[in-house]
Amino acid sequence: MSKNNRDFFKQKKIWSEVKDELLGCYLVPYFNKILSMSNPILYVDCFAGKGKFDDGKNGSPLTTLDSLDKSIAQWRTAHPHGGSMPQVCMRFIELNHAKDLEANLVGQPAGRCEVIDGKFEDNIIPLLQKAIDRHRSLNVFLYVDPYGVKVLNATLFDALTMVFSTAELLINLNSFGFIREACRVMKVAFREKEEEIFRDLEEYDSSTMDSIDELDAIAGGGYWQSIITDYSKGTIDCYQAEKEFARQYKLRLRQKYNYVLDMPIRLKAGQHPKYRMVHATNHPDGCTLMADNIAKRTDRLVIEIQSSGQLSLIPQTAENEMIDDCILEEKVRELLSITTEYTRLNKFLADFYNEYGVLCDLSRLSSGRSGSILKNFEKNGEILVSRKPAFTDRGKPTKFWQEGKGNILMLKRR
Ligand SMILES: C[S@@+](CC[C@H](N)C(=O)[O-])C[C@H]1O[C@@H](n2cnc3c(N)ncnc32)[C@H](O)[C@@H]1O
Repeated sequence: MSKNNRDFFKQKKIWSEVKDELLGCYLVPYFNKILSMSNPILYVDCFAGKGKFDDGKNGSPLTTLDSLDKSIAQWRTAHPHGGSMPQVCMRFIELNHAKDLEANLVGQPAGRCEVIDGKFEDNIIPLLQKAIDRHRSLNVFLYVDPYGVKVLNATLFDALTMVFSTAELLINLNSFGFIREACRVMKVAFREKEEEIFRDLEEYDSSTMDSIDELDAIAGGGYWQSIITDYSKGTIDCYQAEKEFARQYKLRLRQKYNYVLDMPIRLKAGQHPKYRMVHATNHPDGCTLMADNIAKRTDRLVIEIQSSGQLSLIPQTAENEMIDDCILEEKVRELLSITTEYTRLNKFLADFYNEYGVLCDLSRLSSGRSGSILKNFEKNGEILVSRKPAFTDRGKPTKFWQEGKGNILMLKRR
């Protein structure tokens, strides 16, 4: 283990809290949705850690199990007379702290959790294979939170979508670490002072890459090489190189996952991100849920961490851009210009976030109580909206701007 990682579990740092909140808040509606279907779920925390930090705060395995408990409680309330709940298999892979993790999982319902003591690289394929052999149709969610990028495997991520009924990923992508290694392998001098840039990076992978092939396998292709060439020519700096790599990494994932979002975790505005949390799904509902979740975590990141509690008039995105309503209107109009057929609201919103990034939360686009871009467009006749049910129990036209619980909203440009 790198000496920089030895203290990782001593105290849970604020950026790890944001990361776990992103996971835990997403998983409640995710599990709710999947439990309402009939196929079992395989959830794998691929770099699970100890389960608890030494300061008593929960790590990702216990955060996840809390989310699952909340969803099971909601399922039980919705099924007071019983019924068969889909099986949920929680698997935790951990190389260095498996014993601690087992101890922290004592008391979990029998058969729900299993700790796999070993390397992700050695265990993930046999684990998935065993699950496929046992269940013909299975939903899978992989949480991938390693210290570095060395173990990321684009071919594996691609294959999941072909084998499972649904597949979702949440990846901690150390994109800056990738750029640093890519420069080393391509023998391009790193212009910035490494000690300064990596000084505050505790989750730092000291393992090195040996070849272009190894980097290609992580990135899912050779697109990164032209980024490093541009960096070597001085056309871009290392911050632009990181951003471009993250953009193309998402594009590459979109070959198999329709919706890919990311949230850069920065400790100071304008600094390079410590890492990016990348979410991939084929379901518009998953994308809109994650986008709203990212927007909410961003408020905490920008206000509490980057601005020491200072509110700003216009909310900032995780990329530290100020997005006012004029910009949002322009982007929504752009998307509406190709929305000539009635389209589900959640698909429209997912397409918006996928195309433009998480520029705002859902309330500013659609569901805001005091108004939203789409509500205004409906009022001034820029869009046509069709709702099911069209009328309330009292016979009045429905006005909802949120799908779910039997409510369906379709829209198109006028
Ligand atoms: C960033 S930490 C994970 C933190 C955890 N997700 C949490 O929130 O508590 C990375 C973990 O991966 C483990 N690890 C390192 N190399 C590994 C490998 N090849 N396979 C599986 N686990 C590994 C480390 O021991 C460490 O606990």
